[in-house]
Amino acid sequence: MCGIVGYLGPRSATGVLLDELSRLEYRGYDSAGLAVLDRGRLRVVKTVGKVRALAALVERDPLDVHLGIGHTRWATHGRPSTPNAHPHVSTAGDLAVVHNGIIENHAELRARLTAGGAVFVSETDTEVIAHLLAAKLAGPAAGDVGRALLLAAAELRGAFAVAVVAEAAPDCLYVVRQQSPLVIGLGEGETFIASDIPAVLPYTRSVIVLEDGDVACVRAGSVMLSNLAGESVERPARHIDWDIHAAEKGGYEHFMLKEIEEIPAAVAQTLRGRIDPAGQVVAAELGLSDERLRAVRRLSIVACGTSYYAAMVGKAVIEKLARLPVEVDLASEFRYRSPILSDDQMVIAVSQSGETADTLAALREAKRRGVLTLGVVNVIGSSLSREADANWPTWAGPEICVASTKAYVTQLVALYLLALHLARLNGALDDAGVAEVTTALSTVPALLEQILAEREQIADMGRRYAHWEHFFYLGRGLDAASSLECALKLKEISYKRAEAYAAGELKHGPLALMTPEVLVFGLATQRELVDKTLSNLQEVAARGARVIGVVRAGDNVVTGQVDEVIRVPDADDLLMPFLTVVPAYLFTYYLSAALGREIDQPRNLAKSVTVE
Ligand code: M6R
Repeated sequence: MCGIVGYLGPRSATGVLLDELSRLEYRGYDSAGLAVLDRGRLRVVKTVGKVRALAALVERDPLDVHLGIGHTRWATHGRPSTPNAHPHVSTAGDLAVVHNGIIENHAELRARLTAGGAVFVSETDTEVIAHLLAAKLAGPAAGDVGRALLLAAAELRGAFAVAVVAEAAPDCLYVVRQQSPLVIGLGEGETFIASDIPAVLPYTRSVIVLEDGDVACVRAGSVMLSNLAGESVERPARHIDWDIHAAEKGGYEHFMLKEIEEIPAAVAQTLRGRIDPAGQVVAAELGLSDERLRAVRRLSIVACGTSYYAAMVGKAVIEKLARLPVEVDLASEFRYRSPILSDDQMVIAVSQSGETADTLAALREAKRRGVLTLGVVNVIGSSLSREADANWPTWAGPEICVASTKAYVTQLVALYLLALHLARLNGALDDAGVAEVTTALSTVPALLEQILAEREQIADMGRRYAHWEHFFYLGRGLDAASSLECALKLKEISYKRAEAYAAGELKHGPLALMTPEVLVFGLATQRELVDKTLSNLQEVAARGARVIGVVRAGDNVVTGQVDEVIRVPDADDLLMPFLTVVPAYLFTYYLSAALGREIDQPRNLAKSVTVE
């Protein structure tokens, strides 16, 4: 989720690296740095803030260098600070690494390397890579940096794209890719490295996209590729013909679609390292003892907008799994209603940006009243993550589109995992019960990929219904909670009127609105409630409304009862909030695109609402 760059060639390496970094900054970062070889000696410059802060530092002490690596950081392990910024260096200061991804076994590696004499200066997982490489270089790799990288990579668990510069290899850079993107741009007598294609496009359109397990020794004008076993592999160079603007979006017309497509990876990232081999939740990063958490007998969740709707699903799931009462408040209402708070309570603030004024104010109110607070945020280093007593982040990566999509889905993941952890602590579930749900959760990325692969039916619906004006999302149980988010997304991007109701509420008022001009999405995925929801859908169909049923695959019960059907993969009821929202996002996207809406920046809205 961070940005990696590299350069070798005749141009000024610092100039190219800073330019490449600035081309990745559209994703929003918190610190930046670079490492170069200056007459064979490693030099590192890094700072908190934007690339322009780094550029100012470099300008103060210009370097005539032609080989180096750079990084813009999106904090995960460790807050944004200069020591935590990349590159990270070995204790001897003779090699440096930049890294994207998460090293899951960083704690055990850190302990081992520290015992071996490595001196750690940051809180990051990345720093273990520098020390591990140094240990391999001094030991079994006998000074061969490429060999050291292979040996080190074999010991790293998790996702990583890494670039290495070392005094022991003065004319090349080494890179490795494992589940985190990395490309190599090929120029005339010069070579570029980047985690995203836009960074290299001003220099070359000939790009090798590395695959998982690829390792490369990169020289000015040549690249040697191997797999993790050191066997040579071939990857053809592709010609990229996107313009720069399209390239920032990875070739997509809109960030919204790109971010919808990133949802499976974002879910996997948010699960990563949080489920142990026995299927139990690993919650060490919460920094709250089991004893402290066992004392929590009530929960209160505060949030706004989409995050509030994630909280609604979270409430249902926490109450079901952990059997703890949960209140959900709109953050903008929380402090004005004099909430009743107690010592046995925890207030959870959910926020993508971590800067939403109302959510921050709600968190501060809870803290002022002496209640334990927990942040579920996507931006580490944001005000909310700094002020909360504990954090349980989502790892969706930067979200650029104003409409939240991948962040919402990762908020669900975080809240489900929290529910399981609390359930195990208070005995509501035993180990087997927790493992059953974590096993199911681990299937979510693949189920979502399946929905994305079959999107054409939904894209077609979006285009066909683009000129309808009135939309309803109905459902019961978890489907009712999901309906709220489905309707909000349609409102904010298409500017259509979209309502969400618990299906059982229809007869108490909204049924009066049902006419042939209304399109109703009936979410009917909850096994125990499906018949009741279907009979509600028949009530709206009887008033002439057009009905699209959203049901699980293989559930034939709705054939003939609704006008059209969207089938989501068959899975546990608990997983349905993941599987119903992605079709709704796709529907909103294609409908709004057909209308030519400003999809990534809808009118009147901002990504981060920092005023009350
Ligand atoms: O950054 P936050 O999650 O705190 O933002 C809360 C809302 O402003 C946000 O979810 C908003 O509703 C989005 N535009 C939804 O797509």
